[in-house]
Amino acid sequence: MKAAVMRENNAPLELEEVAIDDPAPGEVLVKTAASGICHSDLTVIEGGLPYPPPAVLGHEPSGVVEAIGEGVTDFVPGDHVIGCLSSWCGSCKFCTDGRPYLCPSQYLGRAEGLAPRLSASNGDAIGQFANLSSFAEMMLCPERSLVKIREDMPLDRASLIGCGVTTGLGAALNTVNIPAGASVVIIGLGGVGLSALQGARIVGAGKIIAVDAQAWKFGLAKDLGATDCIDATDGDPVAAVHALTEGGADFVFECIGLVPTVQQAVAMTGRGGTTVLVGVVPMTEMVPISAADLVLQEKKVTGSYMGSNRFRFDMPKYVDFYLDGRLRLDEMISARLSLDEINDGFDRMRKGEVARQVIVFD
Ligand code: APR
Ligand code: ZN
Ligand code: ZN
Repeated sequence: MKAAVMRENNAPLELEEVAIDDPAPGEVLVKTAASGICHSDLTVIEGGLPYPPPAVLGHEPSGVVEAIGEGVTDFVPGDHVIGCLSSWCGSCKFCTDGRPYLCPSQYLGRAEGLAPRLSASNGDAIGQFANLSSFAEMMLCPERSLVKIREDMPLDRASLIGCGVTTGLGAALNTVNIPAGASVVIIGLGGVGLSALQGARIVGAGKIIAVDAQAWKFGLAKDLGATDCIDATDGDPVAAVHALTEGGADFVFECIGLVPTVQQAVAMTGRGGTTVLVGVVPMTEMVPISAADLVLQEKKVTGSYMGSNRFRFDMPKYVDFYLDGRLRLDEMISARLSLDEINDGFDRMRKGEVARQVIVFD
């Protein structure tokens, strides 16, 4: 099958012929229908999230089940599925206390002793990112990386739910409780931020203030529910939020993953408010914030990982939200690309020219 392989960091992906193994017990072979390009894929390419090359990236997929391994009971060939990196074991502390998205088993990969799921034409193993590797025509995944969805859901739009939508929407719907009427700020209007924004709209937030450095995104943000937009390159965005919210917002979602915007997010949060960190700051960086500010104003700062998802429960619901018109996905897709065009897609993402881009397969 054809796949885009990361051979080294900070270099274009290479389009190669890659071998994919047959499903082992508990595994499912999926024909990839579509894969969104998520900023975390770029962060891996740039070395901000460590994952050793060679590897096939891509972790926001939809597809159709092609074959199942022994013991697989949740899927049959022909099922339409979304893939998610939050695979879970079902028995650890996090799975049993209701937070399967924190399950450590999601990093384990294939059981020891088995051939690699992916290999190059010379037989060398190729890393499978997040148990998915969706920048490829086929995916071989643990059963618990997949969820079956309605067949009337278009698969290109379904792919977005695999990471960005679940991350952003889940940050607003699962990680925190936003009371109706609360003021919300979203910093960063990529696929993740626009989904958090829609989550705020769906729960009935009051002011929804969208902040980005690219003013062209504001039309889209307003269309999706923003009440106010702030151009981060035009004056001080913190002062602008304070002016709109009488001294700071109830909830601020940082959806970029940069040190200065994390600091801005805390500063934009009002007394008693909550800062939600959704963007992944490179692991090599630390963020200085005022601890006194947190204490004296009782601000809370929380991380939100993968939308605090229980994806087998959440994703079919998000599909329903799309099909009943509450979740808007069509507007979020800036471009559909073929796998051959993937490096152009990353270039456009680096320049901030796009909301979400989706690779579609035949
Ligand atoms: N101030 C304001 N906006 C900015 C700034 C800045 N200094 N720098 C970048 N932005 C905006 C970009 O213009 C873009 O609209 O942030 C947005 C980021 O969007 P994407 O690159 O599409 O990122 P996305 O895929 O949404 O992911 C965001 O969430 O899951 C994590 O790892 C992912 O950290 C990443 C974050
Ligand atoms: Zn992602
Ligand atoms: Zn577990």
